[in-house]
Amino acid sequence: MEKEIKINFEVIPSYEQLSDIEKILFDKAKSVRENAYAPYSNFFVGCALLLENGEIITGSNQENAAYPSGLCAERTAIFWTSANYPNEKIKKIFVIGGPKDDLSSTPIPPCGGCRQSILEYEAKQKDVIEIYFTSPKGEIIKTKSVRDLLPFSFDGTFL
Ligand code: THU
Repeated sequence: MEKEIKINFEVIPSYEQLSDIEKILFDKAKSVRENAYAPYSNFFVGCALLLENGEIITGSNQENAAYPSGLCAERTAIFWTSANYPNEKIKKIFVIGGPKDDLSSTPIPPCGGCRQSILEYEAKQKDVIEIYFTSPKGEIIKTKSVRDLLPFSFDGTFL
């Protein structure tokens, strides 16, 4: 028997349609993207997290000559946040990625490993995290929870 899974997402056509706080997150993710250390892929990713206390935490991807030792922008920011603010909820994650000098407008979605990490922190904080992903110039995709990006997800309830 074939079945379907429905996921929900919103398309925000451009920067102008974002709310004030969303614009701030976009700007911060875009500027921290410049700090990416990505000499191997030349793919620059920036991430900005909004915490429940109103603080914004940022991160960029950090690569390594031993490739798996590098880390994505999202996990750089999320792990730092949990290490330093273990009890603070993450409300929103804004991700901007693309080749360093790319002017295309394709939204870059978080990789599978980052989705899995975001899922873990939704479980830890017992609350959803809104995810926005985009390119430096272009439309923005928004989901209300990482579960929309990770159907059939594996989490601690199975262990
Ligand atoms: N990258 C991220 O930072 N986040 C993602 O969600 C996708 C991939 C980084 C990892 C690597 O440094 C580069 O982009 C190319 O894969």
